[in-house]
Amino acid sequence: MYNVREWNRFLIPYEQAVEELKIKFKSLRNGYREMGEYSPIEFVTGRVKKVSSILEKSKTLNIAYDDIQEKMEDIAGIRIMCQLLDDIYDVVDFINDRDGKDFTVLYAKDYIKHPKDSGYRSYHLVIKYPVYTAFGFTEILAEIQIRTLAMNFWAIIEHSLNYKYQKNIPGKVNERLARAAQSVWNLDAEMMAIKDEITSAQVLFEVNSDAVQSITTQIQLMNAWGQTDLAAHYQKKLDDILDLTSSDALEELLSEMNQHLEDIS
Ligand code: GTP
Ligand code: MG
Repeated sequence: MYNVREWNRFLIPYEQAVEELKIKFKSLRNGYREMGEYSPIEFVTGRVKKVSSILEKSKTLNIAYDDIQEKMEDIAGIRIMCQLLDDIYDVVDFINDRDGKDFTVLYAKDYIKHPKDSGYRSYHLVIKYPVYTAFGFTEILAEIQIRTLAMNFWAIIEHSLNYKYQKNIPGKVNERLARAAQSVWNLDAEMMAIKDEITSAQVLFEVNSDAVQSITTQIQLMNAWGQTDLAAHYQKKLDDILDLTSSDALEELLSEMNQHLEDIS
């Protein structure tokens, strides 16, 4: 691959795989949200490694051009962020369930149970992913990193410090990073301990925002039908209870409005 055109072509299946995988994990999250259920996935990102980084890495690891596709595991990278520690292993289970159907899991590295010396924690999986591109079928390798929001925060900061210091982070800073990694670990443990509260708070929030949306739509419909007094009446009621923790009041208002609409229709 000696010119940009060849590189672009080489990267097509990787670009496509990243897009497809992002959609798959985001759809999972959306599915939970639509059902008002707690989602183990908070958000998903993905990227294709830049050509300059691929070249740099192939030089350091002594990988010949022809072997890049077979040996470089992170040209396609997906990152899945979870709120809680346990969620990571739920996502891992989900991925393992798809093993052999959607893609093949080649191996996993648990840097959560076995953090790196830097303090880095994440769960890594390398998969072989089949892609049908405009130019035919191929299989590519992709790296999936799964971590909590707190771990992600740490990793991003550490990564940018490494960039700033060109991988020679001063000892003092390194010590602080190690302490910060410990704090992240404590935070994740603390959050797990109040997991049930977080989970129910999140479901409640989803239910409430659904109710608010339904009420608002009803009010718009009333306005659209010229029932402006009625719309104003319910808008006032909504404003009065728009303390989002009161889901009973919202549900009550919604059923009152539905009853009213049935009566007048
Ligand atoms: P690579 O040569 O980068 O593949 O390293 P590796 O094979 O020893 O490690 P691994 O494949 O498990 O992890 C690679 C990726 O994990 C990196 O590209 C980073 O995204 C992430 N990662 C690994 N270690 C660290 C770390 O200490 N700090 C941060 N911020 N990220 C890390
Ligand atoms: Mg690696």
